[in-house]
Amino acid sequence: MTRTAIAAVLLMAVAQARTTRDGVYTEAQAKRGADVYEKACASCHAPDLSGSGHAPPLADVDFAKEWDAQPLSDLFERIRTTMPADAPGTLKSAEVADVMAFLLSKARIPAGSTELPSDAAALKTITYAAPKGDDFGTIPVTRLR
Ligand code: HEC
Repeated sequence: MTRTAIAAVLLMAVAQARTTRDGVYTEAQAKRGADVYEKACASCHAPDLSGSGHAPPLADVDFAKEWDAQPLSDLFERIRTTMPADAPGTLKSAEVADVMAFLLSKARIPAGSTELPSDAAALKTITYAAPKGDDFGTIPVTRLR
């Protein structure tokens, strides 16, 4: 390979390796996701995402630790195939992406100018990067599952 070709390949690899710190959803998308959440998730996970009964919190330290460094496609598939627990598989892919954008916004992960894609292949290229230190989500650490 020529040097230019190698540089091009490296650039492509860098462009693909995005994390949730790179502004991977939009505020408008998170707003749509808030509606989905209210209708399909809040009854079990609580309106403030703090969880209730067997339904765990969705924006606390445990949640972030569990999904940290995982591709967003994993969270997408988890929600798409198992949630809402009383009617799994009833959400459209776009609704799942929207509700994920809402979860990211609640974990204080910054929005950007492009929407979160609603297919697993595209989401595989984005890694969940947990917020760090004080920059943590809106759920008190004391509320553990
Ligand atoms: C009928 C109650 C119920 C509803 C409605 C519901 N969930 Fe859940 N959810 C649960 C329970 C119980 C668990 C834990 C057991 C399990 O994994 O099935 C869970 C687990 C999860 C997990 C895994 C949590 C973790 O720490 O990894 C995610 C993510 C999730 N739910 C997202 C959602 C989203 C998004 C919605 C709305 C689209 C939703 N849930 C609706 C009951 C519910």
